[in-house]
Amino acid sequence: MDTAKGIGIIVNNPENADVRSLEGVSPTKNKSVAIIAVPTTAGTAAEVTINYVITDPEKQRKFVCVDPKDIPVVAVVDSDMMSSMPKGLTAATGMDALTHAIEGYITLGAWELSDMFHIKAIELISKSLRGAVKNESEGREGMALGEYIAGMGFSNVGLGVDHSMAHPLSAFYDTPHGVACAILLPPIMEFNRDYTGEKYREIARAMGVKGVDDMSQEEYRDAAINAVKQLSLDVGIPQDLKGIVQEKDIPFLSDSAFKDACKPGNPRDCTAEEIAAIYKSLI
Ligand SMILES: NC(=O)c1ccc[n+]([C@@H]2O[C@H](COP(=O)([O-])OP(=O)(O)OC[C@H]3O[C@@H](n4cnc5c(N)ncnc54)[C@H](O)[C@@H]3O)[C@@H](O)[C@H]2O)c1
Ligand SMILES: [Fe+2]
Repeated sequence: MDTAKGIGIIVNNPENADVRSLEGVSPTKNKSVAIIAVPTTAGTAAEVTINYVITDPEKQRKFVCVDPKDIPVVAVVDSDMMSSMPKGLTAATGMDALTHAIEGYITLGAWELSDMFHIKAIELISKSLRGAVKNESEGREGMALGEYIAGMGFSNVGLGVDHSMAHPLSAFYDTPHGVACAILLPPIMEFNRDYTGEKYREIARAMGVKGVDDMSQEEYRDAAINAVKQLSLDVGIPQDLKGIVQEKDIPFLSDSAFKDACKPGNPRDCTAEEIAAIYKSLI
């Protein structure tokens, strides 16, 4: 879907034939060729977002293009199209969708309308992902709806440093996007915890944690992070970057993440050194 969006934009904006010229907020004049998008994974929400992500193999980096002119004219979101996904792909793409919902919920530009989408998406994804991994139809349907609703939210407000740190892992080591997002999610939630007001209480509640109204701030923040860790473990996601990241590569990865278009949306400002410390803590 992202490739279709890039091609659709370039066909109608030939002066931007080098896709690198479209990084960040794209300087295009014309709408994309009409795209009918049919997701076969329940993760990216690219069928409804204003973004597409491109890998530059020469520079070993992934970059995000942001352009409201690329939104597909029709999205066919049908869980039957996703039912052939194996377990690992279902888990990884589902955790990508959860990361969208959580990062979109706590991002700097979040407001009441986007909160509404993200909380519903967190609830649907938390309730459905385990069943989707078992290929149960209720789980598949919940994930199809959840990933789409998350996209309706984050496409309007942005993401955060989890996505900034996930992109170099895919560009450099070919780590699947959802796996990278999922491994980083608990440590990034920990990094952001003091910059999120009451939001982790609502994340914990949406993930089915009982008694959140009686919890202290520290307790409900721990509860939200633990609920994410538990879901990630239950669907078989690795919990660290051992065997993926090599220490010698951390300066390159951190520099790449620091320059990523998703980083400015993170609720806590962060330096390249802080990003490097998070990568290091996971190896
Ligand atoms: N546009 C956006 O807003 C946005 C948001 C998040 C991620 N992304 C990008 O999306 C890409 C990842 O997309 P993805 O997670 O959907 O994975 P993918 O499209 O890379 O697919 C992964 C693999 O699974 C296979 N596959 C797909 N559907 C299948 C099915 N139903 N049954 C069996 N196999 C199937 C594919 O052929 C491929 O080999 C990354 O590049 C990521 O950066 C974009
Ligand atoms: Fe993503």
